Amino acid sequence: MSTWANLGLQDSDSPLMEQLIFFHDHALLILVMITVLVGYLMFMLFFNNYVNRFLLHGQLIEMIWTILPAIILLFIDLPSLRLLYLLDEINEPSVTLKSIGHQWYWSYEYSDFNNIEFDSYMIPTNELATDGFRLLDVDNRVVLPMNSQIRILVTAADVIHSWTVPALGVKVDGTPGRLNQTNFFINRPGLFYGQCSEICGANHSFMPIVIESVPVNYFIKWISSNNS
Ligand code: CUA
Repeated sequence: MSTWANLGLQDSDSPLMEQLIFFHDHALLILVMITVLVGYLMFMLFFNNYVNRFLLHGQLIEMIWTILPAIILLFIDLPSLRLLYLLDEINEPSVTLKSIGHQWYWSYEYSDFNNIEFDSYMIPTNELATDGFRLLDVDNRVVLPMNSQIRILVTAADVIHSWTVPALGVKVDGTPGRLNQTNFFINRPGLFYGQCSEICGANHSFMPIVIESVPVNYFIKWISSNNS
């Protein structure tokens, strides 16, 4: 999770988020190279005393500085497109989780398992345990198995919300009357925190998401204890 003074991306906990971080670094590298080159050229213009009174056109240089940026854009465009389609790919999910955004809490349904359903509210600061995370912990966590393909269906009951967990690279809008879908794969056990990221009203900041990633056999135990 993100802690104090962490201004960059969180460490990835899923293969797709790892790829997203690689792409971010790749794009940033290209951006820095362009900025340095253009910055250098603009800076050097101040010290240029040469004047060419007969310069009216330069077909060749115009050709080069039009085509070159287009080629550079391809180096950003193609990996970006690859990632976009990779994020959309559904790879035989073993669990489907349905999350519904409400003003202002999330509710969850495990439709595969006798339709377990529950609400997940933020724990108010005055009721928080001493080791709890303020504005981030919830009363009922989403329990999910690690090392499994998980499909998530997102919708909303009132206004638009967004189910967003940065460490997993998941960000899906929950829109009333629509059902959005993505999938993810959690690399390791642990707690993963997220927040709603569509401005959905007064308590938008107070409907966090907590995923409890556990080994598969533990997940099965959790499911059966909820079915009794
Ligand atoms: Cu729900 Cu912002």
